[in-house]
Amino acid sequence: AKKPAGVPEAAPKPIGQVGVVGAGLMASQLALVFAQHLQVPVVLTDIEQQRVDKGLSYIEQQVSKQVDKGRMTAEQGQALTGLISGSTDKSVYAEADFVIEAVFEEISVKKQVFAELEEIISPEAILATNTSSLSVTEMAADLKHPERVIGFHFFNPVAVMPLVEIARTPQTAQTPIATAFDLAATLRKTPVLTKDSTAFVVNRVLLRMMAEIQKAFDDGTDAAVADEALKPLGLPMSPFDLLAMVGIPVAQHVTESLRSSFGERFYVSKNLQALIDAGVTKIWSTDDSGNKYISQSTQQLME
Ligand code: 3HC
Repeated sequence: AKKPAGVPEAAPKPIGQVGVVGAGLMASQLALVFAQHLQVPVVLTDIEQQRVDKGLSYIEQQVSKQVDKGRMTAEQGQALTGLISGSTDKSVYAEADFVIEAVFEEISVKKQVFAELEEIISPEAILATNTSSLSVTEMAADLKHPERVIGFHFFNPVAVMPLVEIARTPQTAQTPIATAFDLAATLRKTPVLTKDSTAFVVNRVLLRMMAEIQKAFDDGTDAAVADEALKPLGLPMSPFDLLAMVGIPVAQHVTESLRSSFGERFYVSKNLQALIDAGVTKIWSTDDSGNKYISQSTQQLME
C-alpha cells in the first residue's frame, strides 16, 4: 500500500508493552484500543486508586458490551481485560515501549508527568501525548530527550472515530513518527501528520464552529433552536450533545487555548463557564419519554 504523506523511511519501533497515563474517559478508551489491536500488555496509572478502579471498570463494561453483541467470546473478552492492568505507581512504565499521556489538559501537569516519566522509562521508549490543544513542543522543551516526544491525538469515542492526528515538533526524531504511523495502522485508524499548532487541524475547525454556536447561545439563541437549525448540515451529533460527550470543561479549555493562539475569532462562552462553575455536565436533560429539555436550574444559570 502507498505510504501516507510525511511518513519517514525509518523503521517503526516494535511495541511489546504500552503505557497509558491517566484513567479518565480518554485514557481508558485508549488503553482498550491498544490492548485490543496490539494484543500486548497495557499498563495504566492515575494518582488515586479510586480513579484507576473507575477506569478499569469502564473498560470491563465496554468489553462486556462487545461480548453481548457477539463481537467476541467471553473468553476473548477475559483475555482482553487481562492484558490491561492499573496502578498508582508510575514505575510500571519501566518496561513500556510507548507511553501515551491523557491526563488533565494543563501544560504544567503534562510537563510534570513527562519529567517524571523520563526518569522511569527506557532510553528507547517513545513518549506520546493525547493533548487536544496544548503545545507538544513546550511539553517536550525541558526534557533530556525531546526528540522522542510526539503528539498522538484521538477523538471521542475512540473506538469509533477513524482519525488520529500525529503532531511532530521541530525536534521529533524519525523513529517516533514512523512508529506512530505504524501504530495507527495497527489500531485501524487513519493517521494524518500535522504541525504542532494549537488544536492541530480538526479541533481548530470544529471548535471554531462550536464557539460560534456558543456565541449565538450567549446572545440568547435557544439551545433547542440551535440544534434544530443545524440539523440540515447533517452533523452526526447535535452540537450540545457533542459538548456533553467531550465534556464541557474540556471543550472550554480547548477554546481558551485557541483564543490565546488565534485571538478573538475563538469566543469563550460565559454561559458555559457558568455551567462549569456550577458543576453542570450537560445542557440537555431527557424526560421519561425520551424528549430533551433544559432544566429550570440550568436555564437560570444561563440568564
Ligand atoms: N464508546 C464506544 N462505542 C461507541 C460510543 C462510545 N462512547 N458511542 C457509540 N459507539 C459505537 C456504538 O456502540 C456503535 O457500535 P456498533 O456499530 O459496533 O454497534 C457505533 O458506535 C455507532 O453508534 P450508534 O449507532 O449508537 O450511533 P451513531 O450512528 O449516532 O454514531 C457517533 C455515534 C459515532 C458517536 C456519532 O454520533 C458521531 O460521530 N458523533 C460526533 C463525534 C465527534 O465529533 N467526535 C469528536 C469530538 S472532538 C474530540 O474528541 C477531540 C477532543 O480532544 C476534544
